[in-house]
Amino acid sequence: MNQKGNSIKIWDSFIRLFHGLLIILLGGLWWTVENGRMELHKDIGIALFALLIVRIGWGIFGSENARFKQFLKSPAAIPGHLRKLLKGDYEPENTHSTAGGWSVIVMLGLLLSQVVTGLFSTDGILFSGPLSSLLSSDGQDAVTSWHKTQFDVILIVISVHILAVLFYRVKGTPLTASMIHGYRITHQQAPNLKPGWQGFILAIAVWLILMLLLD
Ligand code: HEM
Ligand code: HEM
Repeated sequence: MNQKGNSIKIWDSFIRLFHGLLIILLGGLWWTVENGRMELHKDIGIALFALLIVRIGWGIFGSENARFKQFLKSPAAIPGHLRKLLKGDYEPENTHSTAGGWSVIVMLGLLLSQVVTGLFSTDGILFSGPLSSLLSSDGQDAVTSWHKTQFDVILIVISVHILAVLFYRVKGTPLTASMIHGYRITHQQAPNLKPGWQGFILAIAVWLILMLLLD
């Protein structure tokens, strides 16, 4: 062991692929709207839906440190955590940090709500989400405007997410490389990881089922 700790694997391949795909799919969802490719917008939205469902399942049954109960600590612990970080005394953890854990919940919740509202949205002319016929015309308009406004909220939250990751870096805790290759240098114990391929297979199965149900 050196002074900074050992290199241990903290993120399984499913979590890393999930994160990479979030960035790519979000770009695709924005591009499709800008270019009027709404059928593709829906298909990408459904792929994101499948990933979110499996990520939530992984948060209950998946790798030890990807489980919600592992990384959600009392919000009362956040100020103390941030004070440590500011002083440069923060020891990198083998999961999300106390503040980061809650930001994960906010991001997953917003993305899930974005997919669900999308399913009920309509552009009023050429394209309607697969569940929009369940609502009245006023209901569709309300949900569509929610869907549009919520995207701006998502962009703000993601900007804060990226700034927070930069802030941890400045304070001596690099996080991004671990989300790419999976490893982190820390004194903490290596978590028990599940094979990421189980998550991929599940995500593909859920995606196929959703495509059948929602197409
Ligand atoms: C280039 C831009 C981005 C960078 C550098 C970045 C970086 C990171 C890092 C380092 C983590 C792990 C934090 C930790 O160790 O606790 C993380 C987690 C996360 N990020 Fe990002 N991120 C980016 C873009 C995004 C975008 C666009 C989204 C949403 C669409 C997003 C959503 C998330 C979520 C949901 C997690 C938690 C992952 C999980 O536990 O499943 N990130 N990000
Ligand atoms: C199956 C899922 C989805 C469906 C069926 C869907 C459907 C729609 C519809 C009907 C509109 C209105 C288009 C218009 O008025 O011209 C829209 C707009 C939009 N959607 Fe989605 N959507 C889905 C998922 C998502 C997701 C997951 C995101 C992003 C995370 C997203 C981002 C956007 C954006 C940025 C707009 C344009 C907002 C604006 O014009 O200000 N959508 N979507």
